[in-house]
Amino acid sequence: MNHPENQPEISHSSYRTAQERSAAVERRIAEDPASVRMLTGDRPTGALHIGHYFGTLRNRVRLQESGVETWVIVADYQVITDRDVIGDIRGSVRELLTDYLAVGIDPERTTIFTHSAVPALNQLLLPFLSLVTQPELERNPTVKSELAAAGKSAMGGLMLTYPVHQAADILFCHGQVVPVGKDQLPHIEQTRVIARRFNERYNHGEVYFREPDALLSEAPTILGLDGDKMSKSRGNSVMLSMTADETAKRIRKAKTDSDRVITFDPEGRPEIANLLTITSLCIGRSPEAIAEEIEDRGAGTLKVMCAEALNEHLAPIRARRAELEKAPDHLFEVLRAGNARANEEADRTLARVREIMGMVY
Ligand code: TRP
Repeated sequence: MNHPENQPEISHSSYRTAQERSAAVERRIAEDPASVRMLTGDRPTGALHIGHYFGTLRNRVRLQESGVETWVIVADYQVITDRDVIGDIRGSVRELLTDYLAVGIDPERTTIFTHSAVPALNQLLLPFLSLVTQPELERNPTVKSELAAAGKSAMGGLMLTYPVHQAADILFCHGQVVPVGKDQLPHIEQTRVIARRFNERYNHGEVYFREPDALLSEAPTILGLDGDKMSKSRGNSVMLSMTADETAKRIRKAKTDSDRVITFDPEGRPEIANLLTITSLCIGRSPEAIAEEIEDRGAGTLKVMCAEALNEHLAPIRARRAELEKAPDHLFEVLRAGNARANEEADRTLARVREIMGMVY
């Protein structure tokens, strides 16, 4: 869910292959959802905005509702890949949990857990590291662009190896389907390589870890209200936690242009197109149809429409959010239950891995 500043270079051919596999996964889910185990996750760096919501959260809830078994990792060790200060990690985790439950992630059906509370998951990193080489790690385009975005000259050890750790996130629970954005494809590819090599080198070529597939989101990318990447720290975002008034105010100040005729032109008029996209995602009509309806009534009309649509769509989520905020203990109980489930699974997998490797004493 983290879209680096400098978009990583993902080759067209590997993107196309991933798209094909992703489409095949969608078909499998439609046929037999209960047979699919999905894992995805986020770095806990604070509350979420509508870019996260329309980009991934909504899709997760859809998959959960379809009967897919869902696992969500709160990747707390990944927070310290690109920064020197850990900050209020507990607060960030609480915000993330609040957003998850508010949008409809249901802890009865979805296991929510954190890296740091699942030791056996982390231990898988050691055998997995034996399966990758330094040049391979250094080539990862997403890691490179994140390093550049962090403004650091030297690569930290965790930064270099976190894609291997992410492979452990996915493989410890035998996650088959990983809903992610395009920037995460190198990590999924790395995970596939690790699964393959583990089977080859340690398990006589027999499959223990299956290679997971990315499930690419079809949702259009939401930009910030100034046309840049949406980000909490730039003040160009609409947070799920905002009030309706704050939302309307933010949207009123959104960057637009002076052409009174509203058209859907993502290339030529990205800011107008963005407001149309947000409105469209809320009311389920095409951005073109909305543009046609507004016609020459200008950006002001579009903004009013967008703010109303968004506030109406988010109202139930925000109401749940407010309730959840009153009961932080409940949120951490949910997390502890998820951690317990994840530990059972991770202990089982690690025991099997040690057996496969002959490390049983
Ligand atoms: N790297 C992901 C991101 O920045 C978060 C993440 C951690 C993740 N572990 C994962 C995503 C496992 C999918 C699967 O968005």
